[in-house]
Amino acid sequence: MLSIKNINQEFIETLFLKADTVYKDGIRPGGHYNKILVNAFFEPSTRTQLSFECAMKSLGGKVINFNTNTSSIKKGESLGDTIKTISQYGDIMVLRHPTKGTVQDSQQYSDIPIINAGDGDGEHPTQALLDLYTIYKSYKNNMKNVVNILFVGDCYHSRTIHSLLHLLYLYPHICIYFLPYEGYAPSVEVIDEISQRQTNSPIIFNKQDSIPFRIFDVIYVTRLQKERTQLNEYNSPDITIDEKFMENIRENCIIMHPLPRNEEISTEIDKDPRAVYFKQIEYGVKIRMALLDILLNKFEKKLIIL
Ligand code: NCD
Repeated sequence: MLSIKNINQEFIETLFLKADTVYKDGIRPGGHYNKILVNAFFEPSTRTQLSFECAMKSLGGKVINFNTNTSSIKKGESLGDTIKTISQYGDIMVLRHPTKGTVQDSQQYSDIPIINAGDGDGEHPTQALLDLYTIYKSYKNNMKNVVNILFVGDCYHSRTIHSLLHLLYLYPHICIYFLPYEGYAPSVEVIDEISQRQTNSPIIFNKQDSIPFRIFDVIYVTRLQKERTQLNEYNSPDITIDEKFMENIRENCIIMHPLPRNEEISTEIDKDPRAVYFKQIEYGVKIRMALLDILLNKFEKKLIIL
């Protein structure tokens, strides 16, 4: 689970089926009571870290949280030695790092499988899986019901957009649109890849355009990734999803956001049934439970009886 690019349709079908049935009669299943997950977050996180902890504990397993601020990294220990060390304490590692590619590179030091929980502006595979699951559940378990998806916000840096796009390439009929903050349009490489993979080329709007909001089935919003911009000054978000905005979209169009949000979505729409960003969190636990179950079964370590 280092890259979303390794995931195929068959895996998604197995994962979603498992996520649908992960609670048996509303009860957390247990089953991996002898397994330990190590969370190693070198960048802040609320949802991803807690979601993995909740998922692992729901499966009956245990969790160790590595604290970068009180670790030997402060004494100059290398990342390789740190990863090698952490991997001795658990059966599976969840790793987040601010530099693109570092999570993938770290697998060479680790004796246990690593799940990528976000590498800079690169990827965030498990967020993409829970995002796709949210779309799938919202559209009667059938991606054929989804045609037009609009991405709003920092489309240049958002790793959650980059990763979700890779899953959407499995559904070439889906048309992709962007409404980026000024100066934060997707890169040329991303646009080229969408043009190659999807039946229709992507369309990039700017806020002055007359945008056909009623065609969209999904509007996926992201915050401005201030920590990743090289500029000392950045534009504040120039698009806000509020009650007035909601009047212009379809009755069944869902508003998604990986969270955390800043000013781009007003809290006044939180109770609108089309706002599904808190539902994404709930689905995130189910998807991570299903994923951990698959990975822990696959990479069963030899049990050492002392
Ligand atoms: C996102 C992330 O960390 O990439 N949040 C998340 O994991 N749910 C989005 C963000 O930080 O903007």
